[in-house]
Amino acid sequence: MSGSRESSLRISQTTRVSSRGNSGFLAADITSENGILKLCSSDWDTIIHSAAWRSPDQCEKDKSAAYRLNVWATEQLASEARKRNAQMLYISTDYVFSGTNPPYREDDTPSPVNYYGETKLMAEKAVLSLCRNATILRIPLLYGLAAGLQKSDLLYGTLKALDSDKPWPMEDSIVRYPTYTGDVANAVFFLLEKNASGIFHFSGQNKTTRYKITAAFAEIFGKSMKNIVHLAKAPETEARRPHDSHLSMDKLLSLGFPVPMPFEERIKSLKGEILKEL
Ligand SMILES: NC(=O)c1ccc[n+]([C@@H]2O[C@H](COP(=O)([O-])OP(=O)(O)OC[C@H]3O[C@@H](n4cnc5c(N)ncnc54)[C@H](OP(=O)(O)O)[C@@H]3O)[C@@H](O)[C@H]2O)c1
Repeated sequence: MSGSRESSLRISQTTRVSSRGNSGFLAADITSENGILKLCSSDWDTIIHSAAWRSPDQCEKDKSAAYRLNVWATEQLASEARKRNAQMLYISTDYVFSGTNPPYREDDTPSPVNYYGETKLMAEKAVLSLCRNATILRIPLLYGLAAGLQKSDLLYGTLKALDSDKPWPMEDSIVRYPTYTGDVANAVFFLLEKNASGIFHFSGQNKTTRYKITAAFAEIFGKSMKNIVHLAKAPETEARRPHDSHLSMDKLLSLGFPVPMPFEERIKSLKGEILKEL
């Protein structure tokens, strides 16, 4: 996850980590002892930990690999943060909630309905018990361009569906609050700057579904919905999904963080950049 940064937080040096060591990134596979050692031997006083297996179906199919990255690696990084008295900010998810009683506040009891949500909740607990002043930021479905259009399931997947010459099913049941990665990046730096510890929620403000997102894209990009097949019910998947895990972000707003731009307005503002990458 990456995006823009408009905070005045001063960062003298940053190291970005990836398992494959993409250009500009330190190569460290944090599911291996060696990868963790590599991070433990580098110099840092703040860690923003967002690496995760985030496909619920993939997590359900290979629980031990999901546990290794989502929980074990997080525990190792939190232990190291504690040892060196570093600030840790951990990116979590709305999927820690069951989705039956929204909106969810930070102090509501989590009750994940799939293994992905369970691993993220285990990781949250590890971070909070190891690092007293850690920050947990829970976020919902993301979209953004910082890693390239094709890396954004929501942007690229929706446009691909609209361009398909075959029928393309889109479900109109599970409630989503699409959230822009640039806004999340700003929320991360806002919280670090304020030394805010504990759990926080950040979410886009517009209630929608994958079908309604597709219809909005058709309108904004001047495309036809003729091959989009409306599914009133979400199809069966390996992992269950929460129906509506809307995160209330009142706590963050009360600290002075601005309300994010409405979803369709943001997509219109990104239209030029999206078209350049298509
Ligand atoms: N995307 C969403 O809609 C969404 C919604 C709610 C919460 N979240 C949470 O937001 C966070 C970021 O999600 P995302 O969408 O940015 O995920 P992503 O696109 O899958 O990116 C994951 C990142 O983690 C790195 N990574 C994966 N395995 C690694 C390993 N073994 N060692 C080191 N780095 C590794 C990846 O680098 P490489 O590619 O180089 O391995 C990549 O940079 C996650 O914690 C996720 O749970 C995401």
